[in-house]
Amino acid sequence: MKLMIVVGSVRPGRAGLPVGEWVRSRVEADGRFELDWADLLEIDLPWLDEPNHPAKRQYTKAHTIAWSERVDAADAFIFVTPEYNHSYSPALKNAFDFLYREWWRKPIAFVSYGGVAGGARGVAAFDPVYTTVGAVKTMANVEIPFVATMITDGTFVPSDRETAILGKVLDELESLSVALTPLRG
Ligand SMILES: Cc1cc2nc3c(=O)[nH]c(=O)nc-3n(C[C@H](O)[C@H](O)[C@H](O)COP(=O)(O)O)c2cc1C
Repeated sequence: MKLMIVVGSVRPGRAGLPVGEWVRSRVEADGRFELDWADLLEIDLPWLDEPNHPAKRQYTKAHTIAWSERVDAADAFIFVTPEYNHSYSPALKNAFDFLYREWWRKPIAFVSYGGVAGGARGVAAFDPVYTTVGAVKTMANVEIPFVATMITDGTFVPSDRETAILGKVLDELESLSVALTPLRG
């Protein structure tokens, strides 16, 4: 089972990288998933620049074809996203909008972070987006409030709560992936 971890923030000094690295280390330690590390800063997609609706899958750009193949190969996703103005990362929205069928009937989960709400409002804002392409979200979400206070020397230091919830996220992703695979068509 291939799990893609998408690091959704691209700002210099982003908390997204240490949080994403923590997620990656937990997934590696867990051992159940083959990992694809998708840092949107490295992938560097332009603003959506395809002339056709992605549902047609008539991609014209090499970067879209590469992103499509990568997402197609994944069975499940964890999106690591900040909350910006009560929503989620615009880089994540852009990367998501590039594709359509590639997300269909695949499980997704969020590790969100921010201030007092732990990024929860950003994840709620994503609801109409992933449902439109037929992805299925886990019930468990890792929400990290006041993320800056949990990063020391560039490393995210979780509490037992975040670690326990991430374990539940991985359990759900595994079971949902098995359940959804026959529905992908
Ligand atoms: C443009 C902007 C808007 C933000 N809006 C919110 C917000 O609405 N709620 C919140 O809890 N935190 C908000 N924050 C705080 C961020 O969640 C926090 O700085 C986080 O580290 C940003 O993620 P990043 O470092 O990976 O970019 C905002 C930060 C920025 C830069």
